[in-house]
Amino acid sequence: MISIKSNREIELMKHAGHINYLTHREVAKHIKPGITTGELNDIADKFIRSMDAIPSCLGYEGFPKSICISVNDEVVHGIPGNRVIKNGDIVSVDMVTTYKGYLADSAETHIVGSVPKEVENLVNDTKGALYAGLSKVKAGVKLEEVSAAIEDYAHEHGLSVVEELVGHGVGSEMHEDPDVPNYRTKSNVILKEGMTIAVEPMLNLGERYVYLDDNDWTIKTQDEMPSAHFEHTIVVTKDGYEILTGE
Ligand code: MF3
Ligand code: CO
Repeated sequence: MISIKSNREIELMKHAGHINYLTHREVAKHIKPGITTGELNDIADKFIRSMDAIPSCLGYEGFPKSICISVNDEVVHGIPGNRVIKNGDIVSVDMVTTYKGYLADSAETHIVGSVPKEVENLVNDTKGALYAGLSKVKAGVKLEEVSAAIEDYAHEHGLSVVEELVGHGVGSEMHEDPDVPNYRTKSNVILKEGMTIAVEPMLNLGERYVYLDDNDWTIKTQDEMPSAHFEHTIVVTKDGYEILTGE
């Protein structure tokens, strides 16, 4: 069942989303060679709580940390720990923040120091794919058009699309209906005003194939090539969309 949020619910999600955005800015300031992913996790955890919000990855189906940090060939659900960030890494930060029972989910990938041009393109074009998908969002549009736009943008830029994970509805739960795939599917979902969804392309520089790490959480690329991830929580409006996880 796809829920339509009330104005009050959207306002609470926007507040959760703004905290999410500010936390991303705070973490980004500290992403430098020498810091560990565990230290970045603790910075985020503290900041989120200081804003009267909850870091909702912590304890979600047993996830052990407050945010997900996925480096290089890690696609998503990297567990923060002792790993030291190095020059040339790309670092995906994914977090879910809850304010008064409402959630916002957003991810971004950072480049650390200098990386090869193709890796820089991977990161920039994954962000581009997110906005290519969002550009289709509007009440009355088929959700499939959003998915197709992301897939086409990825392929036009020589990137492959991870299919094992998808975007999702979000609200009072982290994962609500509908699924929001980053590739064409047969879906009859029509976007309506007040639907809140997380759109989140996960794109690979190499092949699309992934596997689950021994830690039972982290998804990695089989060919060990880097992967990037950008995500925003949005609300569908009559004429388009509004980003809830922004300024
Ligand atoms: N944005 C991620 C998702 O939608 C957040 C997962 S939190 C975790 O799946 F606990 F599952 F890691
Ligand atoms: Co998500």
